[in-house]
Amino acid sequence: MIVRDEVPRCPVAAGFDPFDAGYLADPHQELARLRDESPIWYSPALERWVVTRYEDIDRILTDPATFSAAEAQRPVHPACPEAAEILSGLRLVPTMSNCDPPEHRRYRSVMSRAMSPRRVAALRPTIEKRTTELLDGFASRPRADLVRELFYPLPALTVFALIGFPPEDSDRIKAWCADKLEVNWGRPTVEQQVRSAQGMIDYFDYCARFVARRRAEPADDLVSDLIADERGLTDEEVTSLIFALSFAGHETTTNLLGNMTLHLLREPGAWEEVRADRSLIPGAVEETLRYESSVPMWRRVTTRDTEVGGVALPAGARLVLAFAAADRQPDVFGEPDRFDIRRPNARRQLSFGRGIHLCLGAAMARMECEIVINLMADRLPGLQLVPGQDVAFSPNLSFRGPLALHAEWVRGGVPASRS
Ligand code: HEM
Repeated sequence: MIVRDEVPRCPVAAGFDPFDAGYLADPHQELARLRDESPIWYSPALERWVVTRYEDIDRILTDPATFSAAEAQRPVHPACPEAAEILSGLRLVPTMSNCDPPEHRRYRSVMSRAMSPRRVAALRPTIEKRTTELLDGFASRPRADLVRELFYPLPALTVFALIGFPPEDSDRIKAWCADKLEVNWGRPTVEQQVRSAQGMIDYFDYCARFVARRRAEPADDLVSDLIADERGLTDEEVTSLIFALSFAGHETTTNLLGNMTLHLLREPGAWEEVRADRSLIPGAVEETLRYESSVPMWRRVTTRDTEVGGVALPAGARLVLAFAAADRQPDVFGEPDRFDIRRPNARRQLSFGRGIHLCLGAAMARMECEIVINLMADRLPGLQLVPGQDVAFSPNLSFRGPLALHAEWVRGGVPASRS
């Protein structure tokens, strides 16, 4: 319940805890209630203000002079002294999602060129081939955990192919990215923090060595393009860019694939409709991003005194932007709690952000989803969720998707659970 408080002159949601198991299982009811009570409230658990309404989030994302992105990649909970000591070895330059103008303009233009529509479109055959290989690995069985067998490995293989990382390094890079997720967006124990901080250093060193190798011996990949750009990025800048990109490019897409499959299979008739008419897939992707955002919350910090939703905020106020609440706001999206793959304005969803930091990988994520859903529809007849499973979500602030999704399909005319 929200309590009106004089200090910090904003409603306070004392009981709000985004790491609580009940909230993680279904964040939407609580977010809707809080949004309807007040457009902004202070969360003692997060030590931040939480903004919930669409129009306020839209304004914040499109005013980078007042709302800096510097907060975006910082640990939600301050690191313990031992982990902080280890993390001080990270020689990262803010480049993309945590960088403000004017520096951001330079990095964004170099990256936009390196991630050109041509380079992204050229990934299509690679994604199709890898999806087919991964499906070959389990389609002859009656059931599988789709996250483990397909949604987890595929986006990493794709973005690492774009960057130039060798596919055989995929598993350890994924493990390092999980360390980053835990340190920056989770609530890890002291031991986890120390272990994960070390993983982040190992990951940074790996990226730095890779950049040095490509500087000596260029190849046809994104890192070589970044190094060759005439604006002359330093090795430290290129390392920071790929450190950020390799994470941004897969965790989110793994979650989108999981969320999309979960809701297409849960909503009666939706999977059959999409299977019969593949032109519905792009709309279903947008509706998934709206209904179950892969990035339910993102962060900003104020650069000067300002006001949001009628509440005065001082310079330095740390904000959490609840995309998941705004994307279910009833006056923006009618019947917001209905998963409707034909929703006409689903593309207004905020999952990719907006303004100068609008996700650079949106086209790639959309293409990957379209390929995977198409191939699953071809290869897994009668696909359905294994009945009775509890779907669990990763305990972190900003990245939401099922940890496992057990599905079965028809073999010999009957679904596995009835054979
Ligand atoms: C479902 C998939 C994805 C979602 C939901 C997503 C979401 C986001 C969000 C919320 C931001 C920050 C926007 C802001 O601060 O205003 C962002 C930025 C970014 N994303 Fe994505 N992303 C996805 C996939 C990808 C992929 C596949 C890539 C790359 C291959 C990628 C690369 C980036 C980059 C480079 C930025 C920083 C852009 C900037 O600061 O200028 N993302 N993304």
